[in-house]
Amino acid sequence: MNVFKRVCQVYARYMTPFSTRVLKCDPLSIAFHPESDTPQFTSLETLETLKTASHHLLDLLQPVAFPTETVYGLGALALNPTASSRIFSTKGRPPDNPLIVHVSSFAMLRTILPADYALSPAYQALIKHFWPGALTLLFPSDPKIIPTIITANQPTVAIRMPSHPVARALIAVANAPLAAPSANSSGKPSPTRAEHVLRDLDGKVGIILDGGACGVGLESTVVDGLHEDGCIRVLRPGGITVEEIERVLREEMQDCSHIPKVLVHRRDYLDDAMEQAPTTPGMKYRHYSPSVPVNLLFTVSRPPAGLAPTPIAAFLSSLKHTDRKTSSSVRVGVLAPSDSALWDYTEPTDGLDWHPYRLGPTAEPSITAHRLFDGLLTLEREGVDLILIEEVKEEREGLAVMNRVRKAAGESTWITLG
Ligand code: TXA
Ligand code: MG
Repeated sequence: MNVFKRVCQVYARYMTPFSTRVLKCDPLSIAFHPESDTPQFTSLETLETLKTASHHLLDLLQPVAFPTETVYGLGALALNPTASSRIFSTKGRPPDNPLIVHVSSFAMLRTILPADYALSPAYQALIKHFWPGALTLLFPSDPKIIPTIITANQPTVAIRMPSHPVARALIAVANAPLAAPSANSSGKPSPTRAEHVLRDLDGKVGIILDGGACGVGLESTVVDGLHEDGCIRVLRPGGITVEEIERVLREEMQDCSHIPKVLVHRRDYLDDAMEQAPTTPGMKYRHYSPSVPVNLLFTVSRPPAGLAPTPIAAFLSSLKHTDRKTSSSVRVGVLAPSDSALWDYTEPTDGLDWHPYRLGPTAEPSITAHRLFDGLLTLEREGVDLILIEEVKEEREGLAVMNRVRKAAGESTWITLG
């Protein structure tokens, strides 16, 4: 290779702002001791990498992609509007969709809340049990502290403390709260591995920290406990289940005059103003959709009145008419629980080429949650023509799974097996 070409390659790799570098960070080399906000490192390399990422955030005001326990995030300085605006431009995110602010310690949390704000007993209980972790809470926002670009001019700000050692250590090393949405182009499934981020944002982000696969696999639960009626409203189901939230409130608040009710948006209540507001997670914009059509298959739930379910044989036969990328068989991606009866119908057939992705046992919805986005992104990469996702029970993590699946699916079909 000639020297000029090599110099250009090196320049492109290290000097231009958007030549993406994927840098390994070992989560097992980072520890937070219960009494300290300062991470301890056993790998110098990981510490150096976090310092490099911190330089990008603090000095260059550039976003950095990093792993959290839920999904990969695209982080930038939350208190700097120039830095935060780059999150929106990198993702193509509409400016009226507010961002979650991530903190690494309670001391950091205190610096971004209004001085006179006191945590309610319900928030104290939730924070005690679920922070650090996959729970986002809404707090009153002081616009003198939190830039309005973060809150999209709402009176509240969403905050969480991630438990992933790389996420928490990055925030601690930078010593600054980070605003971070999921690290995907707006509308796409959220990434759960560094390679998902690279495929989507290559050339658009300077650094991707690779800390391996995310444990939870879908985003945090967003909770609003600021209403005067004292109810805890779940705006977006996620990594912390509604059942866990109810249990903790029951146990921690048994001596209080009343235990707050937990209401799930769209399951337990509707709010006209909220249905219109972009601040309601995932209401206004297209979400979680890979570039191929997704069909949600209801195999247990009954169809709406007036609609008869389609027998599986007729449904399979209709799939053969799907638009395909090549002239051969239709490539059908299938996401279903590992013990689903649906697999009995995915024998090799003329005209249909199956691409299975198993979502774990029906009895383990946390595994389904962990695998859902990886499944969508894996099947998309395999070049399938369409993706079928089977419904799961809306219990525990299944509630969050179905919330994402309904938004990812452009079409729903009720089928009868057998
Ligand atoms: O697990 C997660 O939450 C990931 C990781 C990276 O932390 N982040 C994430 O961010 O999912 P994002 O931007 O993809 O989703 C945040 C959701 C949005 O749907 C937004 O509408 C909602 O939180 N949100 C943010 N601030 C809000 C506010 N003040 N009021 C109501 N909803 C808010
Ligand atoms: Mg997102």
